[in-house]
Amino acid sequence: MIFIKSESEIKLMREAGKIVGNLLLEIEKLIKPGVKTIELDKFAEEFIRKYGAIPSFKGYKGYPSTLCTCVNESIVHEIPSKKIIKEGDIIGIDVGVCFKGYHADGAKTFPVGEVSKLKRRLIEAAREALKNAIKMAKEGNRVLDISHAIERTAKKYGFSPAKDYTGHGIGRALHEDPPIPTYGPPGKGPLLRHGMTLAIEAMINAGTGESKTLRDGWTAVTKDGKPSALFEHTIVIRGDNPEILTLP
Ligand code: MF3
Ligand code: CO
Repeated sequence: MIFIKSESEIKLMREAGKIVGNLLLEIEKLIKPGVKTIELDKFAEEFIRKYGAIPSFKGYKGYPSTLCTCVNESIVHEIPSKKIIKEGDIIGIDVGVCFKGYHADGAKTFPVGEVSKLKRRLIEAAREALKNAIKMAKEGNRVLDISHAIERTAKKYGFSPAKDYTGHGIGRALHEDPPIPTYGPPGKGPLLRHGMTLAIEAMINAGTGESKTLRDGWTAVTKDGKPSALFEHTIVIRGDNPEILTLP
């Protein structure tokens, strides 16, 4: 069931979203060769708690951390660890924040120092895919119009949408209906209505859309070992132009 949010609920999600947006800005400054992903996680948890909020991911179905820190071929859900990021890597930072019972979820992918042309294009493609997806998130459109925009953008660059993972409704729970695939035929799926709150996730692989899960039970990587990038925003459906909640 898809829940429509009231303005007072959206206000709390906006507070949560602002923390997500500001945290991603601060994390970007910390991303340098030699940093351990666990150090980014520690910073993120302290940042979120300082604002009287709670990390949404920590403890969710047993997930152990505040961030997902997805390096290179990692698509989603990589657990922060002693892994050291190095020049030429790309790292996706995904974070959820819960403020007074309401969640916001956002992600960005950053280059570590100088990266290859392929990785630069991949980041550009995923950023553009999210932008195009958000453009389709308007009243009267359908969920798969959003999905199709991600797919279309990925293909324009010669890349593939990561097909095993989806965006999602969000609000009182981190994951609500509807799931939002990264591909699909336009004009299908649930109708988008004013007050729906959605976490749209553009996840794009340089090679095929296939993935596999590592033995930790969480980390999803590309099957072919090629890099993947993601961008995510939490938005509210409002007429022709959604409001983006996960902004600084
Ligand atoms: N943004 C991702 C998602 O919605 C991250 C979730 S991590 C988890 O799937 F631990 F909470 F699952
Ligand atoms: Co999400």
